[in-house]
Amino acid sequence: MKAPKVVYVCQQCGAQQPKWMGKCPDCGEWNSLVEDKSLSSTSGSAVRASAFRIKKPSAIAYEDIESQDDARQPCGIEEFDRVLGGGIVPGSLVLIGGDPGIGKSTLLTQVSDRLTAAYGKVLYVSGEESDRQIKLRGERLGIRPAGLFLLPETSLELIFEEIDRIEPRAIVVDSVQTVFSMKLESAPGSVSQVREVAGQFLMLAKNRGIAVFLIGHVTKEGAIAGPKTLEHIVDTVLYFEGERHHNHRIIRAVKNRFGAANEVGIFEMTSRGLIPVLNPSGLFLNERPLGVSGSVVTACMEGTRPLLVEIQALVTSTKYGTARRMTQGVDQNRVSLLLAMLEKRVGLNIMGEDVFVNVAGGISIDEPAVDLGIVLAIASSFKNRSVDERTAAFGEVGLAGEVRATSQASLRVRETYAMGFRKCIIPQGNLAGLEYDDGLEVVGVKNIADALEAIF
Ligand code: TYD
Ligand code: MG
Repeated sequence: MKAPKVVYVCQQCGAQQPKWMGKCPDCGEWNSLVEDKSLSSTSGSAVRASAFRIKKPSAIAYEDIESQDDARQPCGIEEFDRVLGGGIVPGSLVLIGGDPGIGKSTLLTQVSDRLTAAYGKVLYVSGEESDRQIKLRGERLGIRPAGLFLLPETSLELIFEEIDRIEPRAIVVDSVQTVFSMKLESAPGSVSQVREVAGQFLMLAKNRGIAVFLIGHVTKEGAIAGPKTLEHIVDTVLYFEGERHHNHRIIRAVKNRFGAANEVGIFEMTSRGLIPVLNPSGLFLNERPLGVSGSVVTACMEGTRPLLVEIQALVTSTKYGTARRMTQGVDQNRVSLLLAMLEKRVGLNIMGEDVFVNVAGGISIDEPAVDLGIVLAIASSFKNRSVDERTAAFGEVGLAGEVRATSQASLRVRETYAMGFRKCIIPQGNLAGLEYDDGLEVVGVKNIADALEAIF
């Protein structure tokens, strides 16, 4: 008899090696290879090869294929539907990742509740909590879903038996790392298990048109735990973001086969669960200090929606040899670059100062359009002169000190007006074709010197 072949699988990237090594040659992670006997047999790949083939395969004419958009089913939680691109698509596989305790189970309990009304039966599989715990959460949320079935189980085969029996229209798996297939020997949560479980749910979703939501754990670095291939398998990847000390939660679509990626939904965690925030700009501006130097409001785009945030800067003379630069919510390197630009292009003697930049409300922004807001906030703190509280600014800043045009200028400008601002400093290049309301004064600037003049 042939001895079973042993394969070593990297738990970080999923690469397979014929022998153990200290460092994965594929992703460079140390000590991540784990022996895996199950992968050496052909079982997994043979099953996967026939993933969509229940019937004999035959080509279909393009015009005969039913469009999926008619089938899109909004669940009624507006912000959640928005990230999904307008509703839940039957047969889609959605992966939701986020830090522990951020509210993944809470959100999906609320979604399940709404889905039972729209779809019929929904199955909530939990490998982390007992049915009573889930019910307790449901009672806290004040929901009484008729048609929601709870299944505290981690064996994939037993879960599938229950799916056959109950025939739900949507399934929530909380979490994909706790489920394991008895066909594989490796431990739950290992690369091969996660891949197998996700692969099986993919087949289920596609073959029967069931919407499947997989909850995923995240690693210390914030990526979804398990193989990167997991993100390739699923149709949609959502990340749950938020700070422990703030109540708002942001769901971001980083991949979506059925809608725009980078769309966000904003919620507030309350004692009765997650509540959609209908006016997010208001949420991030509501504790803004007025008449204080170093505070500037800027308009950024989150998905297809404009969002006003307050950029705060504090410039103090340095106590140590090297100046400190600390940022929260914006990229530190970007700030260093803007500081060097300020020194060189407008002669602000700032390189020897400690500079701290913060986005109020704990939100992170990685859009170049915040540059102008950052620069003006720093200048305001440095000069110790406050910016008029009804003035907002946005624009990308280049190394020559030029202010460059940004996308969606009209949307941003209109949002500032809607939020009560009366003056908006924007890139000159955005002036042409700009649509805005009469009560707003719009100032187009070419470079930083113009912007500083316009604001002080
Ligand atoms: P949970 O959904 O269990 O997080 P996850 O599944 O992502 O680990 O949410 C846990 C947190 O949410 C917990 O700290 C309590 C809080 N919470 C509320 O503030 N209000 C509520 O109505 C509920 C159900 C939870
Ligand atoms: Mg949970």
